[in-house]
Amino acid sequence: MTTPLVWTEKISVNIPEIDQQHQTLFAIINDLITEHNQQAEPEKILSLIGRLVDYSGTHFTTEENLLVDLNFPHFIQHNQAHLAYMKKVDLFIQDCKSNKRGLSLEMLEFLNHWWLNHVSISDMEYARHFKANPAD
Ligand SMILES: [Fe+2]
Ligand SMILES: [Fe+2]
Repeated sequence: MTTPLVWTEKISVNIPEIDQQHQTLFAIINDLITEHNQQAEPEKILSLIGRLVDYSGTHFTTEENLLVDLNFPHFIQHNQAHLAYMKKVDLFIQDCKSNKRGLSLEMLEFLNHWWLNHVSISDMEYARHFKANPAD
């Protein structure tokens, strides 16, 4: 059973817009977990995955613009992590479509772990950097 994601202040990056986006992303993943557990129709799950992809793109753009503005020294690595995620999710979606199935447990676990680790470890690196080097 995949454990739902819980956002807490402990993983706040101290940037309200981004914290809000992380909470929305966690909520979408949790909806996917619910739909997976309820064995929802593949079309319903694919449309929710579509929403996740769109919102991930919006979030990555917000974050990358901010990292560039603030001269984050590990921007390239961070950007690459976002790109690798998008690529992997795209492969999963192709697989869902060609095999006419909704969401494999493997994909669900990947999404769950990726978001938890990325927000609590990778995003935390820039949060710490900004705290130590305020923009103004
Ligand atoms: Fe993020
Ligand atoms: Fe990120």
